[in-house]
Amino acid sequence: MKLLEPITINGMKVPNRVMVPAMVTRLSGEDGFVSPAISNRYVRYAQGEVGLIVVEAMAIHGSNAGPLLRISDDKFVPGLRDMVRRIHDTSDSKVVPQIIHFLKIARSGWRQTVDMLTIEEIDRIIQQFGEAAARAREAGFDGIELHNAHAYTLASFVSRVNARTDEYGGSTLESRLRLIGKVMDSVRRHVGRDFPVGIRYLSDEFVRGGYTVEDAKLIGLRMSQLGFDYLSLSVGGKFEDAVHTPGHVLHGYSGYSGERCMPGATYPDALHVPYAAEIKAFIASKGFDVPVIAAGKLSDPATAEAQLAAGKVDMVAIARGLLADPDWVKKVRQGQLDRIVKCDYCNVCKQLDGAHMPVTCFLWPKGAMQAPTDAGPDVKPPAWPEGGAGLTLRFEKGSVSLKWKKALGAAYYDVYRADDGGAARLVDGVKLPVLSDAAVLGGVHYRYFVRACDTSGNAGAASEPVQFIPPAPDPGQQTDAVSTA
Ligand SMILES: Cc1cc2nc3c(=O)[nH]c(=O)nc-3n(C[C@H](O)[C@H](O)[C@H](O)COP(=O)(O)O)c2cc1C
Repeated sequence: MKLLEPITINGMKVPNRVMVPAMVTRLSGEDGFVSPAISNRYVRYAQGEVGLIVVEAMAIHGSNAGPLLRISDDKFVPGLRDMVRRIHDTSDSKVVPQIIHFLKIARSGWRQTVDMLTIEEIDRIIQQFGEAAARAREAGFDGIELHNAHAYTLASFVSRVNARTDEYGGSTLESRLRLIGKVMDSVRRHVGRDFPVGIRYLSDEFVRGGYTVEDAKLIGLRMSQLGFDYLSLSVGGKFEDAVHTPGHVLHGYSGYSGERCMPGATYPDALHVPYAAEIKAFIASKGFDVPVIAAGKLSDPATAEAQLAAGKVDMVAIARGLLADPDWVKKVRQGQLDRIVKCDYCNVCKQLDGAHMPVTCFLWPKGAMQAPTDAGPDVKPPAWPEGGAGLTLRFEKGSVSLKWKKALGAAYYDVYRADDGGAARLVDGVKLPVLSDAAVLGGVHYRYFVRACDTSGNAGAASEPVQFIPPAPDPGQQTDAVSTA
């Protein structure tokens, strides 16, 4: 299985092809120190044998930002070192921090943009990236990742909507890339060539006037020329289309570009892999084989494996799927795919992040701050009561409503649907024994069934299925009469 093959990145031996990309947890205090809860969150990924753990974005400077980790001063190193040591003591997982610089934002909706920065301030940012990288090495991390994605400073320079008019300005691709070149020089001066330095950047900004994969291919080439050791691709997440809620600071994930960055349940699986594949093929055509990593709804093991096997990407980044189940890799290795807690992309985690509240998964037990410990495959999965699940279906006003009985030991229920005799796929993970499905079409044969799962993802027997064909449209009766001249 390609997913379980190791990969070496500038000397860093990553035991498999699965990365947990940076995901802020909001578990630190405003002081930015590593808390026990944060440390436990990342140790949990190591227990689950995740190949490469990217620790959430941590600030290289001292600006206010609510609960966010920091690496902006030597005083943060001991806490980071302790977390890294715990991760290394747990498994072969490798761990890098994502280091970030962001500009100022205010509750009024005002935000600082890159064209407001003086050359002295830019020089300071270049220096701060280098110093933070040195601290990461000192703390024992296996490498670092530069945050050159979403709404943050580095990405805003690379953006096509960079409004500067000087040598860092938006008028040419070369000037948009000038800052990242200088930052990489500074980082290498501080950590040397033998320390893995990856970068996260956007394959499409998904904002009007922003860049698309066409620029992203050239940006990938430049990152390769600069000596980055991996390219981790994201999309969107920009301030340009963020929705401002009065009294709150802008949230970069509140607009359409934010929706693309963390695509919800209505988006297809693996939707951003084609961009990564294009970038990988392009840089390969120029003689570079820097590992390329894609994110975005890759938590189905067969889907993830197919992208790797087809050579579209070198690693898969799984964020929300590994939040839901940090034991994903271990379960794949043990062939226990059926026991994975399947992310339903409800985006409760995204909402918690936006509200600066501790990021947890809706599928975990209520109030849990960490994923439950895996009870293993030998426990008895939840069982339907005598007489079965009693699954019933009602169709009203174009929507299907399902109801069933509670199963003993169930933490949540996975609801599956097969269309016209095709493969069953997960519709939703719910905690109450009811579900509405408003995305059904007249004339299609639907078959639904439910499985009750415990907190470790152990799924009980499928309920008896219910089947239904919503009424097909009657041709000629679909529109009101239209008069013609
Ligand atoms: C709660 C939350 C926090 C995130 N924080 C970061 C972050 O700090 N840095 C980053 O580059 N991406 C961040 N992301 C984006 C993810 O790394 C990932 O690209 C995105 O969720 C799509 O992958 P997925 O479909 O596997 O969840 C965050 C996503 C979520 C849901």
